[in-house]
Amino acid sequence: MQILAIASEAFPLIKTGGLADVAGALPFALAAHDCDVVTMLPGYPVVLKAIETAGADVAVLPLEPVLGGAARILAVTLHGLKLFVLDMPELYDRLGGPYTDAGGHDYADNWRRFAALSKAGAMVAQGAVPGFLPDIVHVHDWQAALTPVYLAASNRPRPKTALTIHNLAFQGNYPAAIFPQLELPPTSWSIEGVEYYGNVGYLKGGLHACDVVTTVSPTYAKEIVTPGGGMGLDGLLLGRGSRLVGIVNGIDTTVWDPAGDPAIAAPYSARNLKPRVHDKRALEGEFGLRREDGPIFAVVSRLTWQKGLDLVADICDEIVARGVRLVVVGSGEAMIEGAFQAAHSRHPDRVGVRIGYDETLSHRVQAGADAILIPSRFEPCGLTQLYGLRYGCIPIVAKVGGLADTVVDANYAAVNAGAATGVIFPSPTTDALLEAIDRSLELYADAAVWRKMQVAAMKADVSWDKSAALYAGLYRDLTKE
Ligand code: ADP
Ligand code: GLC
Repeated sequence: MQILAIASEAFPLIKTGGLADVAGALPFALAAHDCDVVTMLPGYPVVLKAIETAGADVAVLPLEPVLGGAARILAVTLHGLKLFVLDMPELYDRLGGPYTDAGGHDYADNWRRFAALSKAGAMVAQGAVPGFLPDIVHVHDWQAALTPVYLAASNRPRPKTALTIHNLAFQGNYPAAIFPQLELPPTSWSIEGVEYYGNVGYLKGGLHACDVVTTVSPTYAKEIVTPGGGMGLDGLLLGRGSRLVGIVNGIDTTVWDPAGDPAIAAPYSARNLKPRVHDKRALEGEFGLRREDGPIFAVVSRLTWQKGLDLVADICDEIVARGVRLVVVGSGEAMIEGAFQAAHSRHPDRVGVRIGYDETLSHRVQAGADAILIPSRFEPCGLTQLYGLRYGCIPIVAKVGGLADTVVDANYAAVNAGAATGVIFPSPTTDALLEAIDRSLELYADAAVWRKMQVAAMKADVSWDKSAALYAGLYRDLTKE
């Protein structure tokens, strides 16, 4: 099967969060199921630079103008990933990140930048690239969600479409005034189209138009059809019935492999955990932490309300009072960044903070810390708990979304059975988080129990194998309709 995937980021080329990890890893896992995936990405400067640096063979394919702008496709394979890079310098050749300028503000023309990605995706899906005609188009999040809308509005043959929701909080809603510039037929301005409470809703339109909606964990699939979790789209999603499927994310177990990770001080495995202590010592050194016997708990995350990290920031003193040292790597809301920096000032050798984004550092944290704190208020899947499992860095997580689906709580029975892989707490509150921390400390105090949990965590299947089979099955079913 030929698959066209469309995403606004893909690791290792461009990453701001978990979407990139998924878009960068899933194609390799799908290859084992006879799915040939080409991923369409915007031609951001880092992507064009990566093509140049690699000296890769590029086929330059002309495209009709996209939303009035000159466009072409650069077909290239990078890091084993087959790509169609949408080259539209006017839209993508910017300083700053994929969505925001250097000052962190959304680009004012994001509506055009991602409508163009979606439109170009639809053009390619219908044969704009000679010799390429996909069986399935798989689009990710609001940035690519208009592709199914463009396809549904066309009267030419079209492939079947799947849309994956990675995070319902980002919907791509814009004022009605942009509608005429999207080059959609007037009929698309409707409840079945992109109209959404008087605005244009990119995700909303895509959720209606696609053949199947997937999201990144079974529990999140259940949460988003409720008023509490649906962020305004629960009615629509409920209406899609069995056309909404939750498939849990996996991780790239070659990129994330403690036995062969070039970023970490000492490699280790479930069978030989001993060297892990060197990674802990190295982490202490890197963050200037006091060297002592107690545990190190870590945070690697966007510092936002979704992730519940204001809760961790609020109880830093209590955490430290329990003999825990804390390592925080992340960036996001100024209040949360500031609260962690203040905690560092109060406890310079017990709270280590790096504000910023550092991919290799995130590996060293997972390898050196004892546990990773993930008190998310909602979490479609979450990948950091999967990296934690893989690295024997015990996840302490709120019982939401994919966190609930991927961690086995260390209750009495699970610990005895050797099945426990983490600690789950019922609700994202400081009280519940502190209770979970206390419970974790009891488990940590018994070295044999903790070791058993680490081994179970490291042996848990966090690969893409099972989920890639589910996606392939879904694609196959669609082609048969
Ligand atoms: P989300 O996509 O909602 O941010 P995920 O858990 O799915 O959450 O994915 C986050 C990804 O981004 C993980 O790969 C995580 O390691 C990475 N990440 C987040 N913040 C940082 C950071 N400050 N430095 C390095 N990696 C980070
Ligand atoms: C989103 C979600 C996160 C998920 C990631 C990849 O960013 O917030 O929970 O793991 O997408 O699917």
